[in-house]
Amino acid sequence: MTIARPEDLVEEVVALPGLDLRVLRPRDPEALLDEEAFEHEEFLPYWAELWPSGVALARAVAGRTLRGARTLELGCGLALPSFAAAVAGGRVVASDWASAAISLAAENARRNGIELETLVCSWADPGPLVERAPWDLVLAADVLYERRNVPLLLDLLPRLVAPGRGQVLLADPGRAPAAEFLERAREAFELESRGAPGSTSVRLYVMRRRAPQPRRARS
Ligand SMILES: C[S@@+](CC[C@H](N)C(=O)[O-])C[C@H]1O[C@@H](n2cnc3c(N)ncnc32)[C@H](O)[C@@H]1O
Repeated sequence: MTIARPEDLVEEVVALPGLDLRVLRPRDPEALLDEEAFEHEEFLPYWAELWPSGVALARAVAGRTLRGARTLELGCGLALPSFAAAVAGGRVVASDWASAAISLAAENARRNGIELETLVCSWADPGPLVERAPWDLVLAADVLYERRNVPLLLDLLPRLVAPGRGQVLLADPGRAPAAEFLERAREAFELESRGAPGSTSVRLYVMRRRAPQPRRARS
């Protein structure tokens, strides 16, 4: 899936604390629907929208000082949190399974003078993300909109951050699969929930890996 013509894109200015981003996005995300890709993996071009969770997470990250923190964004879409993290001093990898999202994220980073790495990678085949773990910070906005993402992310996230080190920052607008995910994630993570800056609908979840429980000796 590619965006062939510049006139298929529109520019948005997104105001974050201390930072105005000029972001190109597809004018008509529905025009990107690709029946073949949908039949293969039920792939829908959700990456192409400017979702409230992405904006809220970018706002939350823009207020941080990341001092070289190794930062990974999952399901980055238009990648606003990645841009905010890179400007805050993080060493950032923005990832998504949609190659068109990643091409546009790289182009938007270049247009805003932001340095980051981009990576096409699916949570179902996450070797390239896991090989580079542990990450100091993992960002994810509105990635729990479908139930099929719940087991994938429950399996993946504990492999990306280490106990006692690093954290996952998840932004969610109240999707039903997110409730199931958060319930089950408590086994591996301590969870703290906060309001998101500038949004009444999005919540931010700070997730820290629990130390593994020592095995009980057999009697
Ligand atoms: C609702 S969009 C959110 C996009 C962006 N984070 C935001 O908040 O604006 C969900 C994103 O997750 C990505 N995604 C969905 N399933 C994925 C998978 N299995 N592996 C990697 N990325 C995936 C989609 O391509 C899309 O960019």
